[in-house]
Amino acid sequence: MYIMMKSPRVLGINGSPRNNSTTDSLLNIALKGAIDSGATETEVLRLAEYSLPPCEGCVSYHGICNLQECTRRGGDVVRRILDTLKGADVLLFATPVYWFGPSGLMKNLIDRMTCLEHKQKILDGRVGGILCSYEEEGASLTISQLFLTLSDMGLMFPPYAYTYNRGETVSPDTEFYAYQLGKNAVLMSMAFMGKLWWNKTGR
Ligand SMILES: Cc1cc2nc3c(=O)[nH]c(=O)nc-3n(C[C@H](O)[C@H](O)[C@H](O)COP(=O)(O)O)c2cc1C
Repeated sequence: MYIMMKSPRVLGINGSPRNNSTTDSLLNIALKGAIDSGATETEVLRLAEYSLPPCEGCVSYHGICNLQECTRRGGDVVRRILDTLKGADVLLFATPVYWFGPSGLMKNLIDRMTCLEHKQKILDGRVGGILCSYEEEGASLTISQLFLTLSDMGLMFPPYAYTYNRGETVSPDTEFYAYQLGKNAVLMSMAFMGKLWWNKTGR
């Protein structure tokens, strides 16, 4: 009997506002790795193409923070983006460093993802990866910040789950790590797909 292994859906999330950015290059390399590991569905969510309204902070004042409420208040763009995240098995977050942290586009998305995390942990068990472009300082702070947040949201990470590149030319080292990251994220997703092996609530 044949058991068909489902191919993971891979989503690259691009937090650079620039076209042909270094972030683009990093993401493309990682997606190539993902395809070479067997991913047949890859998509890039270019945050700059959307006017994503900022999080309204509902969780802090009346405790109602869920996907339904968030899309009701935020409308089509919020629904479209959050549904795209929900539909992916592998999420690769790529951002330039803006003032020692992720770009505003990326941070805005992270805040909006609170409704996926709060109580329901909708993204838990997804595989994550982090790619970062910078010029001088702040890549490790940016990556750490994303790691903490995404781990809190229930994502799991393969070995060598991040990479960063200084300047506009992608170095051979970074190219290697970005490619491996895409590959390993897909391999990890395949290894765990369909298995609920962790404590779902996290508590
Ligand atoms: C608003 C802004 C803030 C920035 N802050 C930093 C920073 O704190 N550290 C750093 O190394 N580079 C910083 N940079 C430079 C970018 O991270 C760098 O040019 C990066 O390679 C751009 O990536 P991209 O080509 O993917 O857009 C900043 C750039 C901008 C526009």
